[in-house]
Amino acid sequence: MKGIILAGGTGSRLFPVTFATCKQLLPIYDKPMIYFPLAVLMQAYIREILIICLPKDIPRFQDLLADGSHLGLNITYAAQPEANGIAESFIIAENFIGSDPVALVLGDNLFYGHNIEEILAPCQKHTDGAIVFGYHVQDPERYGVVAFDEKRNVTNIVEKPLKAPSSYAVTGLYFYDANVVDIAKQLKPSPRGELEITDVNKVYLAQNKLKVILLEKGFAWLDSGTHAALSQASTYVQTIQERQGIQIACVEEIAYKQGFIDHSKLQALAGLHASSAYGAYLQSIATPCNPVLN
Ligand code: DAU
Repeated sequence: MKGIILAGGTGSRLFPVTFATCKQLLPIYDKPMIYFPLAVLMQAYIREILIICLPKDIPRFQDLLADGSHLGLNITYAAQPEANGIAESFIIAENFIGSDPVALVLGDNLFYGHNIEEILAPCQKHTDGAIVFGYHVQDPERYGVVAFDEKRNVTNIVEKPLKAPSSYAVTGLYFYDANVVDIAKQLKPSPRGELEITDVNKVYLAQNKLKVILLEKGFAWLDSGTHAALSQASTYVQTIQERQGIQIACVEEIAYKQGFIDHSKLQALAGLHASSAYGAYLQSIATPCNPVLN
């Protein structure tokens, strides 16, 4: 399975912070935002990853993640010059996807839960149809929203409805079979001028090939598209990390746990970060018999 991180857009809701830098490189507490969606793909055992962003941001992401080989990944980059819609990512990524299934994660989404790997495990093997995730929120009108019938079957997905048919928003993590490229190519721009991911999901729903997994209420799904949301996400990460002595979205740790890199590579990466608390954490997990890894 291939993975795409969509990290484009101008981040205009975060102006002036994003005038001179890219939103997905802003910190969520102690890490660049893009580490969080990258961690999700890695937790789904996805190692071939395409980052799609504004042309001017490609060198910035390359400075941070290079070709990904230090994490046992193969990371490549592609440009989306204009924010023409989330579904445009599949057209841009056509050659990258080829005939493989693909996961897409939005570059400003954070997912965290003790059972995330269990949730993602069946998705990796999914080669027919689509999987999306529903999450109970207070303000579903801001999102794509799932509609259910009285038997809890999914009947529709509606993008930013005036009156939400349920409290379940569709999160920014999606798994598709390779047909997604052709589906995206046939879409027409919505009234807001975008190729909508919700329209892709509606095609799969009409084919009876859309699976909606409802994330449990203790699971955390946060986005960071506004100043308030960014600050809340930072506080959340800080609180969990400091309380439990763990790291959320520590990509080096995930690479090691997933077997993408060996112990000597982990130690070398810890050395690179030596002067930060992050480096100290990496050093601690690179120490044999550390209980954090158990
Ligand atoms: O966060 C989940 C929601 O994401 C879903 O519930 C909605 O169905 C989906 O449409 C989308 O909602 P938004 O319209 O709020 O997404 P937004 O325009 O904020 O874009 C999400 C991220 O994707 C953002 O970091 C910028 C990036 N993006 C967006 C578009 C439209 C791109 O890189 N390129 C694009 O063309």
